[in-house]
Amino acid sequence: MSMNESAVPMDGCMVRIEGLRKSFGDLEVLRDVNLDVAPGEVVTIIGASGSGKSTLLRCINLLETPDAGHVWFEGSDLTADHVDVNGLREDIGMVFQGFNLFNNMDVLDNCTLAPVTLKKMGKAEAEAVALAHLESVGLADFAHAAPATLSGGQKQRVAIARALCMNPKIMLFDEPTSALDPQIVGEVLEVMRGLARDGMTMVVVTHEMEFARTVSDRVVFMDRGVIAEQGEPEQMFTEPAHPRTRAFLARYLRS
Ligand SMILES: Nc1ncnc2c1ncn2[C@@H]1O[C@H](COP(=O)(O)OP(=O)(O)OP(=O)(O)O)[C@@H](O)[C@H]1O
Ligand SMILES: [Mg+2]
Repeated sequence: MSMNESAVPMDGCMVRIEGLRKSFGDLEVLRDVNLDVAPGEVVTIIGASGSGKSTLLRCINLLETPDAGHVWFEGSDLTADHVDVNGLREDIGMVFQGFNLFNNMDVLDNCTLAPVTLKKMGKAEAEAVALAHLESVGLADFAHAAPATLSGGQKQRVAIARALCMNPKIMLFDEPTSALDPQIVGEVLEVMRGLARDGMTMVVVTHEMEFARTVSDRVVFMDRGVIAEQGEPEQMFTEPAHPRTRAFLARYLRS
């Protein structure tokens, strides 16, 4: 590699995280996290409350600013000074536990807002795109509904459709089903399963172990700010190497 080539070797991955550190005051939340995500890969992140899962996810789209280390996205260093944060967020879809829909506009307008304002897409085209995504999450009939009238599962499916309207290259999910009633969780997981099947690159923080086990290509176990262990789901769930992984999973998999 010549001296003036600044791009990090991505080795074919879409996201490369190196030496990531983040503290809040005296609390070290991320301590040297390293993680690669390949195109089309579904990575789930599991771990106890407070282990740094959300902070890690939020560093990928710069909702948090890392203290040290690098987050590379398709060869660009997101931690560099002059990164175009808005351009970046167009490529990185995010779905939160709490839906974060705009309650003062209907479902369709929620979906067209970002494409129209950020991508300068024409309103008619944005609506056609939005309707197609609403259809794909089973909510075509709810285009003109107010978010407040929807169930939690419907709201979360709108949030997913809204993120897809930006045509993201990767989708980040932070406990997308944790705020939902148990009987509603399945409909959201089903949409996510479909996305994974269609080849979407996804990083999913979740406590849904069945989803982690059956949908993800790789499971990452976070423990007190580091990745203690990662591997293929079958290996992680049947023969975890790290005692902290075993202890964590035992709480979920107790039969
Ligand atoms: N903006 C913030 N200011 C101060 N402390 C924070 C902030 N965000 C997170 N923390 C703290 O950092 C630690 C890790 O938080 P984080 O949200 O990343 O954990 P998590 O693994 O996502 O946990 P959970 O499973 O409860 O969502 C926690 O102790 C949390 O209180
Ligand atoms: Mg969290």
